[in-house]
Amino acid sequence: MLTRKNILLGITGSIAAYKSVDLARRLMEEGASVNVVMTEAAARFISPYTLESVTGRPVHIDLFKDPFDHLNLPSETDLFIIAPATANTINKLSCGIADNLISNIWLAYEGKALIAPAMNARMYRNRLVQKNIKEMKKHGVDFVGPVSGSLACGEEDIGRMSEVPEIVEAAISALATKDLSGQKILVTAGPTIEPIDPVRYISNRSSGKMGYAVARAAVRRGADVTLISGPSHQKPVSGATLINIETASQMETALLKHLPKTTAVIMAAAVADFRPSSKANVKLDKKEVNALDLKKNTDILRKLGKMKRKFTLIGFAAETGNNVANAKNKLKNKNLDLIVLNDVTKKGAGFDVDTNIITIITKKGDVSEYPLMQKIKAVDVILDKIVELKK
Ligand code: PMT
Repeated sequence: MLTRKNILLGITGSIAAYKSVDLARRLMEEGASVNVVMTEAAARFISPYTLESVTGRPVHIDLFKDPFDHLNLPSETDLFIIAPATANTINKLSCGIADNLISNIWLAYEGKALIAPAMNARMYRNRLVQKNIKEMKKHGVDFVGPVSGSLACGEEDIGRMSEVPEIVEAAISALATKDLSGQKILVTAGPTIEPIDPVRYISNRSSGKMGYAVARAAVRRGADVTLISGPSHQKPVSGATLINIETASQMETALLKHLPKTTAVIMAAAVADFRPSSKANVKLDKKEVNALDLKKNTDILRKLGKMKRKFTLIGFAAETGNNVANAKNKLKNKNLDLIVLNDVTKKGAGFDVDTNIITIITKKGDVSEYPLMQKIKAVDVILDKIVELKK
């Protein structure tokens, strides 16, 4: 997600600096080129040599080594991340004090910046630090963390630097085009489970990976996202409101509750089509059950299609044959603007894998096929189509 992006990683003097080595690696794994600039205090916590080995580039520390580092480095940078950022550095940057290489670069830098603070809780709560953070946010600087947890001083409180995946996510978000800003998007994900008795249920193989990827990409692109999820082991999407449900009926209730003011609904969930016609309150004795009596669940998407006024409605079609014809029928019957077809029998597509092979069919009848892609990339293609529809 960071291909061809140049990131300048500033590291200041905190014990959290040990995480910056991993941060540099993860940013590079996402495709970024990473240049590192450290304070002298940071170099007492971790060796510049470690960062030179990881990035394959010289690490910059000394303001007087090259008279133009503080001007050349910012001009080549798409995102300046300072992680960890100490209270001292935050205070200096917010006041425009330039007394080392990082703070000189900061003064000469005009692009996007992301700060991951790390400090003792009392230092973090200090009114000057709070005032300076507020001031920097007002000027468009992004912050990630700090979070609560055990601090180096032994206290359990706020002040820990955010974990590396959170900082990488914030970096991707900071650089993403905000073409969905102002959109209120409802996303569904995962399976629904329909109880038979207190220990058994009917469900399907959806892991939630596709729906969570939709929510993550939409947040990155600036949308206000509510994610309605059936049982899933996926990590909550930071920046999205998560509503956990179990049954199709609960999913329907949650969708209808949040529908007002929604500008788009994206139904990636695999809603169970049937439920047991009654739920037993005690575990059924297997000797007494020969067959299950099933009832059809409401087709939620179809119901939304009938109610559609101003919002864009996107469905998914999980097919196993006669794919395009089936998906076109679903698009028409459910009154959708767009349907994303995936043949769940294909290797690397559909349930519980990180990739998908999608075909997008629009209301106008355009059919676009895409090759195997990571789900997080495939959802960007889907969101591009939604942006086009909204024009
Ligand atoms: O979660 P993953 O493991 O990542 O897997 C992803 C996925 C395969 C679940 C996803 O890509 C997908 O295809 N989701 C839709 C699954 C599905 O239920 O397809 P369908 O063709 O049966 O239903 C068509 C559409 O109607 C879907 O948008 C579905 O959410 C909706 N529906 C279905 C039944 C029902 N009772 N109510 C509905 O709203």
